[in-house]
Amino acid sequence: MAIVIKVAALSGSLRKASYHSGLIRAAIELSKGEIEGIEIEFIEISELPMLNTDLEINGTYPPIVEAFRQKILQADSILFASPEYNYSVTALLKNAIDWASRPPNVWAGKAASIVSAGGDFGGGRSHYHLRQIGVYIDLRFINKPEFFLLAFKPPPKFNDDGDLIDEEAKDKLKQVLLSLRAFTLRLQGKN
Ligand SMILES: Cc1cc2nc3c(=O)[nH]c(=O)nc-3n(C[C@H](O)[C@H](O)[C@H](O)COP(=O)(O)O)c2cc1C
Repeated sequence: MAIVIKVAALSGSLRKASYHSGLIRAAIELSKGEIEGIEIEFIEISELPMLNTDLEINGTYPPIVEAFRQKILQADSILFASPEYNYSVTALLKNAIDWASRPPNVWAGKAASIVSAGGDFGGGRSHYHLRQIGVYIDLRFINKPEFFLLAFKPPPKFNDDGDLIDEEAKDKLKQVLLSLRAFTLRLQGKN
């Protein structure tokens, strides 16, 4: 039996038919079929309040923030589906990252990976801002493979509900998950 790693997956988009949420659904489907030893949970971040340290009372956080922080703490690694907004990460994703970075920083030491879909660079510029943020909060990103999907280049990569329909992209996503799993186990000294 393969060791099972727990992955917390975060989407940086609120859109109902979000491509990024679609990428996470595709990753979950892969984890239930083709890939062994990986369990992915879609972590909701849409209801988190905007970060305001006035909401922290004697070192405690609002219940919804605490629940989110616990989900991150309990995960072995993180899958960020990170849209590129104006060459950077979205405010939604940054807000979640900031909440979980408050003391104690619950991101520290976790393996992480990034996937994106977007314009001419497939959302790639958000990766490099996210990797920079990761330096400070001690995330350990896999280097490769990098996943940038040119979402607007024909043929369509997603259907109208935001489900990933491109087989090549699904295979690439699978490679990302395998790499994330291997790196997570390596960091934990389990392989
Ligand atoms: C405010 C805003 C800024 C954007 N900036 C970029 C950008 O810099 N680069 C890019 O490739 N796409 C950009 N886009 C397009 C998004 O990549 C595209 O809307 C993508 O589908 C968003 O992800 P989602 O489908 O998960 O919502 C921007 C979209 C918005 C709303």
